[in-house]
Amino acid sequence: MEKDCLILGIETSCDETSAAVVKNGRHVLSNIISSQIDIHQKYGGVVPEIASRKHVEIIDVVIQDALDKAGVTFDDIDIIGVTYGPGLVGALLVGVSAAKALAFALNKPLVGVHHIEGHIAANYLEHRHLQPPYLCLVASGGHSHIVHVEDYNTFEIVGKTRDDAAGEAFDKVARVIGLGYPGGPLIDKLAKEGNRHAINFPRVSFEDGSLDFSFSGVKTAVLNYINKLEQKGEAYNQADVAASFQTAVVEVLADKTVTAARNVGVATIALAGGVAANSALRQVLTEKCEQENMKVYYPSPILCTDNAAMIACAAYYEYILGNRADMDLNAIPNLKLGEHATGN
Ligand code: KG4
Ligand code: ZN
Repeated sequence: MEKDCLILGIETSCDETSAAVVKNGRHVLSNIISSQIDIHQKYGGVVPEIASRKHVEIIDVVIQDALDKAGVTFDDIDIIGVTYGPGLVGALLVGVSAAKALAFALNKPLVGVHHIEGHIAANYLEHRHLQPPYLCLVASGGHSHIVHVEDYNTFEIVGKTRDDAAGEAFDKVARVIGLGYPGGPLIDKLAKEGNRHAINFPRVSFEDGSLDFSFSGVKTAVLNYINKLEQKGEAYNQADVAASFQTAVVEVLADKTVTAARNVGVATIALAGGVAANSALRQVLTEKCEQENMKVYYPSPILCTDNAAMIACAAYYEYILGNRADMDLNAIPNLKLGEHATGN
């Protein structure tokens, strides 16, 4: 029997400090996530400088926790995988520096992982039989991409947002209706009490038949709707706004993803990224996929948001395909999906 391969994953691209130990790419032994949300909530969004400092303070403890929880030591680790982009440069640098220091000191192979590739890989952790090719909708606070996952590290972007990311729109609308940060989970919850047909917010499609998204229009429409009522001194129903806005976003995400799957010729769809935790998106996409005879997969909510287990999983497949980083690995805040930077 072949020896097990243990991967230590490290993720610090935004406001979660996370470390995980994953066995053979798919079995999570530990996944420690230390969230800074409480700190950033005061400011209504992530403050990059504070994020970097908090990562520095806690990264060593989080890594040690991940080893302890998995019941292993540094000596047992075979590969170190780390997110090196995209994300906040100062935040990314903390994880990259920690990973490089460990790889050097322990003389273990280092693998640089693209954050979105990690989100996609989260699906492998719970759906052991899932393998490429399939289509993945990656929707988070910074990205909204429809990705054709041709192989474990071969991706074609078939649609993306031309302005705001879906999660960004959720966060902005939540702020406008006074819900707080991060807005996605709060809108998701409140929408359950509202009427999703109450207000007809716009769904944007492009004349050229492109599968790109645009969410700035729906965000502005919500703003205008509220401003108009407030000017007239009338109250608006918060839950109806949340439900109608969520429906407008979710319908477009689901429609375009299913169309993309049809165009590409695959019958399997996966969801990834923070917005993949949205209950309405999961429901609408599941219904559409049933009608189309397509299979749909999504990770549990904890694996949808930023975590290091997904990074360890992606690192495993990159490693198997021969990708290694060296001590030149650097944080690349605007790293493109499928791009391998110098040093990786
Ligand atoms: O993937 P993630 O943790 O971080 C980024 O890489 O951006 O995604 C965070 C985003 C935030 O915009 C948050 O509001 C959104 O995902 N989000 C949700 C839900 N849970 C998190 N959006 C809609 N519904 C949810 N249940
Ligand atoms: Zn993310």
